Amino acid sequence: MYSGKAKDVQIYENNKVKLIFRDSISAFDGEKKDFLQGKGEVNCRMSAKLFEILNEYGIHTHYHSMIDNNTLICDKVEIIPVEVICRNVTAGSFCRRYGVAKGLDLLPPVIEFFYKDDELHDPLVTQEVAIQLEWMTKKEAMLMRAVTRAVNNILVELFDMISLQLVDFKLEFGRTHDGRIIVADEISGDSMRLWDKETGEVKDKDRYRKDMGDVVQHYNDVYDNLSKLSKLPELSLSTKAQVIVKLKQTVLDPAGEVTLRSLNRMNYQEIDNIKLGKHVFVNCLTAPSSELLKDLSDMSEKLFSNPLIEDYSIDLWFEEER
Ligand code: CDP
Repeated sequence: MYSGKAKDVQIYENNKVKLIFRDSISAFDGEKKDFLQGKGEVNCRMSAKLFEILNEYGIHTHYHSMIDNNTLICDKVEIIPVEVICRNVTAGSFCRRYGVAKGLDLLPPVIEFFYKDDELHDPLVTQEVAIQLEWMTKKEAMLMRAVTRAVNNILVELFDMISLQLVDFKLEFGRTHDGRIIVADEISGDSMRLWDKETGEVKDKDRYRKDMGDVVQHYNDVYDNLSKLSKLPELSLSTKAQVIVKLKQTVLDPAGEVTLRSLNRMNYQEIDNIKLGKHVFVNCLTAPSSELLKDLSDMSEKLFSNPLIEDYSIDLWFEEER
């Protein structure tokens, strides 16, 4: 069906695909290429492990099962052509782009969007441009940001338990046949930066980019240490939402008119319309997901608003975002 730089995708049954991890590795938009024996297997295992862990915390991903050393069964999705990068510490392209030193803490963590296009060298894009050019919708951007922050929260704590610092990582998202947005692709040593907390030793793909050697050995080391964990970090994730309910433009708003007249009397002559609305603040004890957003729409339609005369909009974010 499709062959990428390090993985193949093959059609499987029931809206699913096989994701086959190869031993190929590349960097610098494919300029540097190699085969590293065992890399496919360790990235496949690592992705399966991390997707299973994320799943335990209620993050919705494309992962179903691992059927052999190199193959995952995943939901078939249409990949959104925008990669989300989350950074806890400065490194890589962030340092090159902004001329800042490596290793500075970024608090709160920074989220960036990159357009997936090798010929254009995956340029950084603003959310506004990516929406304008129809690479993603506003709703997708909101979900992708919130889910990425939730994933960061989980992974930072998880890697901390094995004495690794999660410097940065990349997520990709996909649209399912039934309209959900879920985490897709892989999460492995190829898509994140991990530094040993004590020694600063590099445990990720920078070993390959910078010819530091023993790439697969270090990937396996991380995987083995993760596998030995007897329990997961205790985290209570929460997602915040704000529903704004306002009267439809055509509906008379007597209270708004009284307020407007008062404003005009106070000499605010430049204001010619006021609509008074309602704001519902919701704290959800789950990770952000398309399903949660759908539930919030149901609540808004059935309870928070009167659809005959009111419109609503939903804003959703992960706890730490604001
Ligand atoms: O690695 P480089 O300096 O080119 O890019 P970056 O923007 O600093 O990458 C941030 C993080 O996202 C690193 O952990 C990369 O390995 C990962 N990344 C990725 O997995 N795939 C990409 N196409 C770009 C970045």
